[in-house]
Amino acid sequence: MCGIIGFTGERSAVPILLDGLKRLEYRGYDSAGVAVFNDGKICMSKAAGQLSNLREKIRDSANLTGNSGIGHTRWATHGAPTETNAHPHISNNGKFSIVHNGIIENYESLREELKEKGFDFYSQTDTEVIVHLLEYYYGFNGDFKAAIMKTASRLAGSYALGIICTDAPGKIFAIRESSPLIIGVGAGENYFASDVTALVENTRNVIYLEDGEFAELTPCGVTVYDCIGRKVDKTVTRVAWDVEAAEKGGYEHFMLKEIMEQPRALKSTIEPRVKQGRVEFEGLELDLSRVRKIIITACGSAYYAGCVGRYVIEELCRLPVEVELASELRYRNPIADEHTLLIAISQSGETADTIGAIKECRSRGASVLAIVNVVGSTIAKLADNVIYTWAGPEIAVATTKGYTTQLAVLDLFALYAADELGRIGAERYRQLLGQIMKLPMLVQRALDFSSNIPALAGRYHKNRTVFFIGRNIDCAVGLEGSLKLKEISYLHSEAYPAGELKHGTIALIDPDRLVVALACHEALLDKMTGNIQEVKARGATVLAVAQEGTKKIVAEADDVIFVPRAEPLFIAAVEIVPLQLFAYYIARNNGCDIDKPKNLAKSVTVE
Ligand code: AGP
Repeated sequence: MCGIIGFTGERSAVPILLDGLKRLEYRGYDSAGVAVFNDGKICMSKAAGQLSNLREKIRDSANLTGNSGIGHTRWATHGAPTETNAHPHISNNGKFSIVHNGIIENYESLREELKEKGFDFYSQTDTEVIVHLLEYYYGFNGDFKAAIMKTASRLAGSYALGIICTDAPGKIFAIRESSPLIIGVGAGENYFASDVTALVENTRNVIYLEDGEFAELTPCGVTVYDCIGRKVDKTVTRVAWDVEAAEKGGYEHFMLKEIMEQPRALKSTIEPRVKQGRVEFEGLELDLSRVRKIIITACGSAYYAGCVGRYVIEELCRLPVEVELASELRYRNPIADEHTLLIAISQSGETADTIGAIKECRSRGASVLAIVNVVGSTIAKLADNVIYTWAGPEIAVATTKGYTTQLAVLDLFALYAADELGRIGAERYRQLLGQIMKLPMLVQRALDFSSNIPALAGRYHKNRTVFFIGRNIDCAVGLEGSLKLKEISYLHSEAYPAGELKHGTIALIDPDRLVVALACHEALLDKMTGNIQEVKARGATVLAVAQEGTKKIVAEADDVIFVPRAEPLFIAAVEIVPLQLFAYYIARNNGCDIDKPKNLAKSVTVE
């Protein structure tokens, strides 16, 4: 997600803004910019790519010498990561400049309205509507506070805004709704930033803005107002974190932070795609009536998300779906043509094997739909259509929110495609969409249910090898649960279809084996119970994962992790949560380098 920073004081603003943006780099970004108030004007500099590009550009410019200003690192959501789309954005009359973190969901209608009022747009961003609204409302009576409140009342979605105005020299303004924004209180200078990471070097005294509040900062004071303009008394808090801890939001590891971020990541991914009770993918141009076969291709966890997606798409669309490892698909002379839809899934959008598989299938006429987390990534550019997982940057090598938001997009796409193909009735469509909309809340409840995971990890972290068994979607979730355990705790693990064990692999089941039995697919619960009895009879210890209220399992397993009840088709995003935490706490007990596991890279850009 984007990072914003603001400063006002006696010192030159730009060096402080750049240092603050440096501290926000961990949030992930693809362009950056600053704007300062200087001698009655707003002076800006922006650059695509790394912060070093911006520093280089600023080095040559003499007019960025003001003592108050705003800065931004952009994680692109609407519009490619270019200098034009980079923040800050400036009003047509040059009076206002803003930086924004969040997504304005009604930007299209606002854009049309402002164009009709004669405003010129220069970027592809959702953010730009905000700065033109400010100019429009300020033009009525020059009342800055009223203009901010009126502008905020027109915005739907999430925003943390930093604003400067040529009519308010030395002042900077901050306003938030559903995106974090923190005020830093200094001595003769004041700041705001997306998180404390960018503040703690200059001050540990902070004020946390609440949704709807906005703040006016001068070098010698901070005034906070509520959404109807009344002054609000705020407490100044002393931050205990150091810089590194602040980057992790107070969590010990990025992985744990990102596991906990999943409800918000899912909300950001699902909600903008549901309008008036319908699934809508902005800009999707796909004629599904021509599709005879779907191939899902990816690597690692993205592939395992595809394994889940196959069940959902086949069940709802009644189209044959193959799921292929990209490293295999690209070299096996794939059967693909103009009636094939290739769905390429990738968190980074840069995985070499997935890129290779895309090119191979495209050359045979397949249409390519990419599900990626990075706007403007190679895979996003290669595809005919892109559906983004708006999970925000994922820092830990082991993916968590990247995987669950991929599941959410696959669920939405399956429902959308079933409707397009006329394979689903209105009532079932409405019912299933309601179930997808519940996923953020259900994942939050799964996190709330997981208080026993650290103790279970303490009990099992010495096991030499672990089996994950399940049937149907549970089996696909087991693949991801097994990979999480392997890649961060280095325990050997294997995911296996429960019904297949008896055809050989059960020979490995003995008293040393821990078997994680995924038993959330209730239609096959009796079969799973049989499989649990099978491995128990050979001495295995069984840790079951089941939906709350599943009593049968309790009698059979040694330990049970319960998850909230969910629609069977969409349960994977809920069921994986305790397995992510189980892997995390086992790795933590074993003293592993959780965020940067040995031998692994966040994005495998080589074959
Ligand atoms: C998952 O935890 C691993 N880091 C790895 O399997 C990853 O999913 C795989 O390399 C694919 O990466 P991508 O999603 O960026 O294409």
